[in-house]
Amino acid sequence: AKVVLAYSGGLDTSIIIPWLKENYGYEVIAMAADLGQGEELEPLHEKAVKSGASKLYIEDVRKEFVEEYIFPTLRAGAIYEGKYLLGTSMARPLIAKKLVEIAVKEGAEAVAHGATGKGNDQVRFELGVKALKPELKIIAPWREWDIRSRDDAIDYAQARGIPVPVTKERPYSMDRNLWHLSHEGGDLESPWNEPPQDLYLLTVAPEKAPDQPAYVELEFEQGRPVKLNGTACDPVTLIEKLNELGGQNGIGITDMVENRLVGMKSRGVYETPGGTILYNAHREMELLTLDRMTLHYKELVAARYAELVYEGVWFAPLREALDAFVDATQRTVTGTVRMKLYKGNCTPAGAKSPYSLYSEELATFGRDEVYSQKDAAGFINLFGLPLKVRAMMEQKTGLR
Ligand code: ARG
Ligand code: SIN
Repeated sequence: AKVVLAYSGGLDTSIIIPWLKENYGYEVIAMAADLGQGEELEPLHEKAVKSGASKLYIEDVRKEFVEEYIFPTLRAGAIYEGKYLLGTSMARPLIAKKLVEIAVKEGAEAVAHGATGKGNDQVRFELGVKALKPELKIIAPWREWDIRSRDDAIDYAQARGIPVPVTKERPYSMDRNLWHLSHEGGDLESPWNEPPQDLYLLTVAPEKAPDQPAYVELEFEQGRPVKLNGTACDPVTLIEKLNELGGQNGIGITDMVENRLVGMKSRGVYETPGGTILYNAHREMELLTLDRMTLHYKELVAARYAELVYEGVWFAPLREALDAFVDATQRTVTGTVRMKLYKGNCTPAGAKSPYSLYSEELATFGRDEVYSQKDAAGFINLFGLPLKVRAMMEQKTGLR
């Protein structure tokens, strides 16, 4: 029988291969997804086979990741606990989808992943698999084996002739893709510790960014970014270019204590340079083009959407329903935003849209032509009526 393993080429997923063979007697088929993590994946063919896999699938999912996962989340404006742009959360259901596709193709009876039993990722992988192919068995070695430390893992690998990387590992648990890079663990486990300046790999520390601001112009069509500085740009390239520009200017560092789904709080530092520019720019576009009621209601939807993505409930009717709502709101979110990047700050420097609801004639402090200030008196009388009635009752009853 066969199992398909989500494989990264790192130490943990490498030792899972012999572990699955020894403990389950499976033929192990490895799958590595190219999510834009900026690593050469071709060498993994040899590595996976050396570790005992019968073969490796390399799936380039970058375009799908951006179009089907990142852009919907961006258009929803979803941000977890007000800070986290969900870079790892969004990628997991897509990896689950690819595991399922390969399992079906190979006639495998199980899938396996290398997430620990303490985190969110196990939940996301497994909800994805359950939603798409409920009869597949799911194996999470971290919840079963006795390996507890990196040294245990190295011993296990060496005993089986699996190459262990000699490079000095960073002491952090990291996850990188096109959208972001996360750091957890090590000295970050104390929230009192400031992240060291050399932590950052996608961005420079803001204090080391240039003394001159950089500008970037983004054009949106129905809430999706389509042009960068006036030139049409495919979604993957657009994010790559924004990562570079944002990274040079120290944009998109988030340091937070977050609530994991499995109960504990954890501390994470995230680098999301391009994503931060896109979120800020998209928000400017909406401020110009959405009416007050829709904008405010959308904020509620964004919070729920973020929760659902964080919790791995991606392949679900609620997400589809929220996407339909978001789609309806984005019809007029079209136009151009200019953003100014300066030492970690990303601020608007101009916005325009053919569907702008902003009217200079209405808002002007100059001469009124269309707005009648006299109308405001009646409006305030009725809008304030409940407060007035309440105050009169309080006076009469002695409540104040
Ligand atoms: N805390 C973040 C999240 O739950 C990042 C998780 C990073 N995962 C990892 N395997 N290093 O989305
Ligand atoms: C893990 O525990 O595998 C990584 C962290 C997380 O999933 O939240």
